[in-house]
Amino acid sequence: MSEIRFDGRVAIITGSGRGLGRSHALLLASRGAKVVVNDLGGSLDGSGEGNTPADEVVNEIKAAGGEAVADYNGVHTPEGAQGIIDTAVKAFGKVDIVVNNAGILRDTTFIKMTDEQWDGVLSTHLLGSYYVTKAAWPIMKENKYGRIIFTTSAAGLYGNFGQTNYSTAKLGLVGLMNSLKIEGIKSNIMVNVICPAATSRMTESIMPKEMLNLMTPETVSPMVALFAAEDYKETGNIVIAAAGHFAKAQIVESKGIYLDPTAPITIEAIQEKLPDIMNMEGAVTFQNAMEGVGKCLKRG
Ligand code: NAI
Repeated sequence: MSEIRFDGRVAIITGSGRGLGRSHALLLASRGAKVVVNDLGGSLDGSGEGNTPADEVVNEIKAAGGEAVADYNGVHTPEGAQGIIDTAVKAFGKVDIVVNNAGILRDTTFIKMTDEQWDGVLSTHLLGSYYVTKAAWPIMKENKYGRIIFTTSAAGLYGNFGQTNYSTAKLGLVGLMNSLKIEGIKSNIMVNVICPAATSRMTESIMPKEMLNLMTPETVSPMVALFAAEDYKETGNIVIAAAGHFAKAQIVESKGIYLDPTAPITIEAIQEKLPDIMNMEGAVTFQNAMEGVGKCLKRG
């Protein structure tokens, strides 16, 4: 197999001053991409911005012979997001790849969740990914080329105690991908979602050391890079990547049941058929909402 390269491509990786983003940035740069290393610094909960881990990653890339520029904007405002795109255009003339990776955590149970904790997490993960992608989109449409990656989480796909804000934001990104993939396909813009698990400051206090030793960010980044590759023509996929495990996740529907819609449908009739409704054997997925709704009208 020929080596996958990114020569001539410009990649923005948000939140790439450390953790997964840093690893994505180093890998793409090592394969020839010109990289914008965006990171506003700050602590895990998003407070205290100002140190510049982005500079360290840029130095690492340059020391290895790659090309990179640092950007210190926050993704969580439209102005910050536009600033990131401007950095890319000023330094390298365009944007080909956006890896929406920046993130924070403000975990607490739902009963204790403050609006500030809720808003902060949604602003960074969901709105931040929207703002950055929105600012890059016209350039990608114009160039008829784009690779966009969103970063979800098992907490979003399946839920996690104490993470209602994070789960909401992370599954929202799947919704964003689902419609954006349809709008992007004609312009050769592929939109996919990575669902990683990796050692970082986000996970170091909650997972056993033996697990963390296997879950390096470097085991995740090759999948992100594949999503970012020119030859990768798939769109609308969610891929799990952790510790060498790779798998596709998707939303599916059971075969379900069909009751006569022209006759009254009772609560009890549904209750009686509940096992059939919930039976996931032969479950199916759909390419878009119309296909999904179409299944409701298909009989037998
Ligand atoms: P991390 O905390 O090591 O890195 C996140 C980076 O984003 C930090 O350097 C931080 O300064 C930056 N950042 C935060 N807010 C920002 C903003 N508004 N603008 C720009 N940069 C900002 O965390 P990690 O683990 O590398 O996470 C990366 C992404 O992967 C996040 O979206 C996270 O939710 C996601 N993820 C991580 C998992 C893991 O196991 N580490 C599991 C599932 C998802």
